[in-house]
Amino acid sequence: MIATEALSAALDACRQRGFAAIPGAASSPAELESAMSTLGALMFTPGERPLHGHNYVFEVTNRGRRDVPRSVFHSDTSYVARPPSWTALAAVQIPARGGETVFVNQFDALEAAPADLRDALHGVEFLHVASRVANPDAAGEGCWHPVLRRHPELDRVALYVSARERLVAARRHGQRLPDAEAQALIETAHAQACDGAARERHAWRDGDLLLTDNRSTLHAADHSAVQGTRTLHRVMVQGEAPVAAW
Ligand SMILES: [Fe+2]
Repeated sequence: MIATEALSAALDACRQRGFAAIPGAASSPAELESAMSTLGALMFTPGERPLHGHNYVFEVTNRGRRDVPRSVFHSDTSYVARPPSWTALAAVQIPARGGETVFVNQFDALEAAPADLRDALHGVEFLHVASRVANPDAAGEGCWHPVLRRHPELDRVALYVSARERLVAARRHGQRLPDAEAQALIETAHAQACDGAARERHAWRDGDLLLTDNRSTLHAADHSAVQGTRTLHRVMVQGEAPVAAW
């Protein structure tokens, strides 16, 4: 059961830090959908398959996999016009060891960026596209988003990128950049986003519900030392069209 007060307090913490956990609040898929729908309309990743019987629940799992799942820093489902504001991950089965979720705060990453990079990103949008989804044909054409994004609730500016492979082109004030220049700028901005601020880790415990603010963080799962099955249920709340900070 997810208490309204606990959710509200966790959201406040999440706005400040980019993520927050509520111990013991992991719930059934239906309860998770119900609680998150109090924050806004729910959404699901185009091109992915929902959990049977639950249109807004995605199962994240390494169950039955022989390879080590690949996880890189990303912002959830960034290749749509209105990407998720909040993501909730509920513990279903926690491995005996490893499997932390790692975050990088994108307000901090931007603040730490060299002045010439900040200048170069003024007026710049990247084209975000889907990758590694179950059904690429259903994932859409992708979407342009500003790299300097104003958080609508905090009036702070964050870097807004996603997995490197999901960033494929750049334009500045609507003018498409030549590919070599675009790729170099994407590379530099992406590196700053991943390495420009401290990495913070959430070590999972049974019953955890983890909230993420997708407008101010990148996250990745650390599968490098997982021992055992790691299964989480994910529900996302639709956010606004990203607002440029220029
Ligand atoms: Fe994610």
